[in-house]
Amino acid sequence: MARIIGGAAMSHVPAIGAAIDNNRIGEPYWRPVFRGFEFSRDWLARKKPDIAIVIYNDHANAFSLDIVPTFAIGCAEEYGIADEGWGARPVPRISGAPDLAGHMACSLILDEFDMTIVNRMDVDHGLTVPLNLMCGSPAQWPFKIVPICVNVVHYPPPTGKRCLALGKAIARAASSYEEDLSVVVFGTGGMSHQLQGTRAGLINSDFDKRFLDRIAGDAETLADISHVEYVREAGSEAIELVMWLIMRGALNARVDEVHRFYHVPVSNTALGHIILENR
Ligand code: DHB
Ligand code: FE
Repeated sequence: MARIIGGAAMSHVPAIGAAIDNNRIGEPYWRPVFRGFEFSRDWLARKKPDIAIVIYNDHANAFSLDIVPTFAIGCAEEYGIADEGWGARPVPRISGAPDLAGHMACSLILDEFDMTIVNRMDVDHGLTVPLNLMCGSPAQWPFKIVPICVNVVHYPPPTGKRCLALGKAIARAASSYEEDLSVVVFGTGGMSHQLQGTRAGLINSDFDKRFLDRIAGDAETLADISHVEYVREAGSEAIELVMWLIMRGALNARVDEVHRFYHVPVSNTALGHIILENR
């Protein structure tokens, strides 16, 4: 069985990737940001997972407005690196886990989650920045990856409730896999932020802290937060937080919070990070 041992949620702000790639992590602006992930890198190195299921969103690099899958699962051997803005980052290519991903695609679709199957795809900062935050900058990533891509860019994104339910279906899919594997789940993006319009730069730390307080023990009611409430309270791009609920749903009902970090601002966002372990 693929045993899900824990999960983590973290920001994917592209400026973090640019800070790493341009050797700026020692600067006063960035030092506290990376310090918040020191525990996390140790934690992950100790856990030595075989696989990370990474819930993230593409930012018009793999998909464009031509095709907008609500939920997509990567079943490829390998994923290339792409990005907008600063361009493709100089990070190692991503090794996929096609056997597990194929099993998960079958399990999820037969479980009535209509996943888009993706056999060729590049991944962007939505996936690579979280990997750097959790692993540093190794020559090769230390585990294989099953990317699960969520539409949080084009209205309507999936609801929080649907995302929590997808997480639970991911746990069922993992538990019915034959090979013995150790798995972590990353939920990426967030927290409060708005990148455009007259409210650009909006941050709501009270909202974020309540979200962090509730994700371990009260995810069912967190899943009731509507799209309008995310946008109104925490900014249009805070909708990325539904991806944290997929991670949460993939864990057991009872989890232990082992690490939390919150820092404002990082670029235009509030950076939130939490690690939860299955009991
Ligand atoms: C920023 C944040 C994001 O989540 C993103 O995808 C792009 C940019 C920002 O803060 O600039
Ligand atoms: Fe984003």
